[in-house]
Amino acid sequence: MAIKKRKPARRQSSSKRAPSRVREGDCLDLLSRVSTDSIPLAFADPPFNIGYSYDTYHDRRSTDDYLDWSTRWMSEIHRVLQPNGTFWLAIGDEYAAELKVIATRELGFVCRSWVVWYYTFGVNCQQKFNRSHAHLFHFVCDPKSFTFNDDAIRVPSARELVYGDRRANPKGRLPDDTWILRPQDLTSGFNTDDDTWYFPRVCGTFKERSGWHGCQMPEQLLGRIIRSSSHPGDLVIDPFAGSGTTLAAAKKLDRSYLGFEISADYVAHIRKRLASIKNGQALDGSPEPLKSVPSTPQGKLLKKPSRRRRTKS
Ligand SMILES: C[S@@+](CC[C@H](N)C(=O)[O-])C[C@H]1O[C@@H](n2cnc3c(N)ncnc32)[C@H](O)[C@@H]1O
Repeated sequence: MAIKKRKPARRQSSSKRAPSRVREGDCLDLLSRVSTDSIPLAFADPPFNIGYSYDTYHDRRSTDDYLDWSTRWMSEIHRVLQPNGTFWLAIGDEYAAELKVIATRELGFVCRSWVVWYYTFGVNCQQKFNRSHAHLFHFVCDPKSFTFNDDAIRVPSARELVYGDRRANPKGRLPDDTWILRPQDLTSGFNTDDDTWYFPRVCGTFKERSGWHGCQMPEQLLGRIIRSSSHPGDLVIDPFAGSGTTLAAAKKLDRSYLGFEISADYVAHIRKRLASIKNGQALDGSPEPLKSVPSTPQGKLLKKPSRRRRTKS
């Protein structure tokens, strides 16, 4: 039975900005200390229950235990979110379907987008197609009232870039719900020969990679989520902080953050990472794929080849 949140009030005033914090401990315990209806945006990238090797967490529960645990922490996320709040969930194939059903049917979230994050590097599977995606669920508490800053994340349209059509919306269009991270989008660090990354997020060869956490996500990906789903000054919560990417992106984008992480070692690294960042600093990595279509050199209408040239070739 889905849990109903109370009707959203006006957007809660951001005049009193929440302090930014990183806490060491179990997110279930730490979430229980967070006030109900208090947080505008949650992003969670939990362990996928695939036997990944973390510092302290053992990533191999029975299916029932994993689903029960996921229900409990997602239920806490639902409780702490403001009535017009947003929850983004990153999850692998193994449990994407189950967690979506739990989030929507049991907990009362409404799914706005099921984003596929497509990447083209790093995985060589055996006797199956190479895995090249993860799932990003965009859930909201109330489909009639939620933050979505479309102008903050628009990309140029094909109409503008390829065809040079003056009727194109100069503000661009909303990105597709398949988010592509290609080697050419991360030219500063990607080495196409390197295939040592087991669970590809920020490759070992990327300059962005901190080097001490295997599941570091790209800041540009969090940038799109934070820009679209929160306002400057808002508080962003991440119950599985990992290497601290969400918190780093939040700080750079002038949001407050609240991060939980069970490993003391990771927490120490996160604090160092955050201390080295200034508010307003640019996100790491190349700018998010701003162009969703290939650009022509001057962004002008491509000339049709002449009839004679066509027959020649
Ligand atoms: C997939 S990683 C998150 C990676 C993160 N998105 C990043 O970009 O670095 C999941 C993290 O959750 C932490 N973790 C596991 N169980 C936890 C719990 N009960 N409470 C808090 N953190 C937990 C693990 O130690 C791990 O660092």
